[in-house]
Amino acid sequence: MTSPPSPADFARLPEAVAIIMDGNGRWAQERGLPRFKGHEVGAESVRAVTRECARLGIGELTLYAFSTENWRRPAQEVALLMTLLERYLVEERPEIMDNGIVFRAVGELDRLPASVQREYETTRAMSERNGGMVLRLALSYGGRRELLHAAQKVARVAVAEGLDAVERLGEDDLRQFLYDPTMRDPDLLIRTAGEMRVSNFLLWQASYAELHVADIAWPDFREAALHEALRAYGARARRFGGV
Ligand code: FPP
Repeated sequence: MTSPPSPADFARLPEAVAIIMDGNGRWAQERGLPRFKGHEVGAESVRAVTRECARLGIGELTLYAFSTENWRRPAQEVALLMTLLERYLVEERPEIMDNGIVFRAVGELDRLPASVQREYETTRAMSERNGGMVLRLALSYGGRRELLHAAQKVARVAVAEGLDAVERLGEDDLRQFLYDPTMRDPDLLIRTAGEMRVSNFLLWQASYAELHVADIAWPDFREAALHEALRAYGARARRFGGV
């Protein structure tokens, strides 16, 4: 058996990674299983990818776990996803603490069931003094809604401090109005299941992210697929609009 790669085996590792986890439903349907089974196996991919990113020393990992659009799914699927999420928030605590992970969430968290909010708060508070990778789940998250909320907060600045204060705002000042002002822009944005879309994810933060689309569905996305994405990232030249 070959040993797992070390950070030095990659030309350049991203500091921050974000992932659109797609294809759970199709993965299950292709196997004649209920869609929910795809989400369950997808939760195991969350575990494997989180552990591997932390082991490689990646600074931040942000996972698109539930979008604002996902509320439109059948009530039964939404309820099952919320149950799975709640279970994950409780069961992952030892793994989060053992790996020194700082756990956070971004999105309209007040729309989540009260029990999920409670378990989230416990996990977040428990991990806030850890010193390792930041694992962030996007929950009930939409990029446009995040920007709308930021605009509303700017309007409050206008009322409290006047239009001059608003006109002095620079791009980086806008960050303080986003859901998590401490979040780093992702260097690498991965999407699974072959779709070439950003799907309302991190519209502000991912402006210069390198995109990597994997053809496999999320439940099949494990360490080897992550390494492939990291190698592809290492081979890219990033110019941020320059030459
Ligand atoms: C996309 O598959 C995935 C989601 C809607 C949510 C992602 C959820 C998980 C990975 C499981 C739970 C997460 C945690 C953190 C425990 P899809 O249903 O859109 O797939 P499809 O496009 O094939 O229908």
